Amino acid sequence: MDRLETQVGIVGAGPAGLMLSHLLHLHGIRSIVLEARSRAHCEERVRAGVLEHTSVDMLRQAGLAERLDREGLRHEGIELGLDGERHRIPFVALTGQCVTVYGQQEVVKDLIARRLADGGDLRFECGEVSLHGIDGSQPFLRFEHAGATHEIHCDFIAGCDGSHGISRAAIPSAAVTLYERAYPFAWLGILAEAPPSRDELLYMHHERGFALYSMRSPRITRLYLQCRPDEDIREWSDDRIWTELHTRLGCNDGWRPTEGRILQKSVTGMRSFVVEPLQYGRLFLAGDAAHIVPPTGAKGMNLALADVHHLSAALDAFYRKNDQSKLDSYSRTCLQRIWKAQRFSWWMTSLLHCFPEDSPFDRKRQLAELAYVTGSRAAATSLAENYVGLPLDGA
Ligand code: FAD
Ligand code: PHB
Repeated sequence: MDRLETQVGIVGAGPAGLMLSHLLHLHGIRSIVLEARSRAHCEERVRAGVLEHTSVDMLRQAGLAERLDREGLRHEGIELGLDGERHRIPFVALTGQCVTVYGQQEVVKDLIARRLADGGDLRFECGEVSLHGIDGSQPFLRFEHAGATHEIHCDFIAGCDGSHGISRAAIPSAAVTLYERAYPFAWLGILAEAPPSRDELLYMHHERGFALYSMRSPRITRLYLQCRPDEDIREWSDDRIWTELHTRLGCNDGWRPTEGRILQKSVTGMRSFVVEPLQYGRLFLAGDAAHIVPPTGAKGMNLALADVHHLSAALDAFYRKNDQSKLDSYSRTCLQRIWKAQRFSWWMTSLLHCFPEDSPFDRKRQLAELAYVTGSRAAATSLAENYVGLPLDGA
């Protein structure tokens, strides 16, 4: 048995785990990151695309924004579509802030490169990762790597292993409360080799189901279609996908998405989920391990970054000043902002999707709400300030 020692053992090399490891390094705190998948898998997984201004500021302050500032696409608003008409929500005019479109896998690539350049200890393709002693003062992680068993003895464990990870499950069920909501639909997402033919994201309400026009770069478009939760991707030929995208996204002024070779397609379920508290003994949860939002509000990666901002500051106070108060309030601090993001993500989802159980009354109410949001400066400002990112302190 190989025995390793560090200050913080981190499970998961997604945005939460990698960013935490980097922020701890800036504070002079040692960590080891254990990741189940390969480096290539982590760097190629296509997921989130929108960074709040708060996340961009955080990445800049952490010295991680060189490529982001060069390649990220600054978006000063989004469009909401209704009955084939587009209505712009001008973020900068309403809030003074904007968002940046920069793929999650690019954030992950930048973080991995930086951790390795700084001599960080990232271990990919780890098997059988398990957590031990989290309710005592000497927790440790056990894992298999290259045919051998290893243990990492540490002061704290950060569970950054996403919604299907093992960290949350290591907490006795009586010690946490789960809050959850399922949605009766999913998103079929595609990545297409086509230059974006709009400058901003278009969130389209349509009687056949919601559709989203997004992008990744000047060459790549990202598109989503509301579909059934049990949708079989094999039933969606490229032709069928483009026909449906044209039907739902097509606008009265003749605009249609530009077609291109489909590089990737997948179906993602939709869930709202929060576990409370985010701490059990020496284990701290961050990111999707602790909470899931439906993607309509573009909040998931941003929440993960906000959590580790607080966790790294709390660990810094502990090691530098022997002050445990921020660790004790970590869960409470994060949950304020998490619940606001949950509310917003649920609201955007309810505003734009077709719910199979909706009555004619519900549909009329939904259309009235869309008309209100697109017609009222006050309502549009509420959407805009949530979309660009609420303050990190949860206020
Ligand atoms: P993850 O990225 O899931 O990372 C967890 C890591 O832990 C993974 O690398 C995993 O392999 C690893 N792991 C799991 N189990 C183990 C184990 N047992 N041992 C070791 N390692 C393990 N968010 C936004 O902000 N904006 C968006 O526009 C947006 N769009 C999205 C679109 C889609 C289609 C999807 C699926 C998600 C979207 N999200 C979006 C959400 C966002 O991708 C997640 O919230 C984000 O990945 C959370 O980061 P994380 O580090 O907490 O978890
Ligand atoms: C994306 O580009 O993947 C994306 C953008 C906005 C969302 C969700 C996903 O709300």
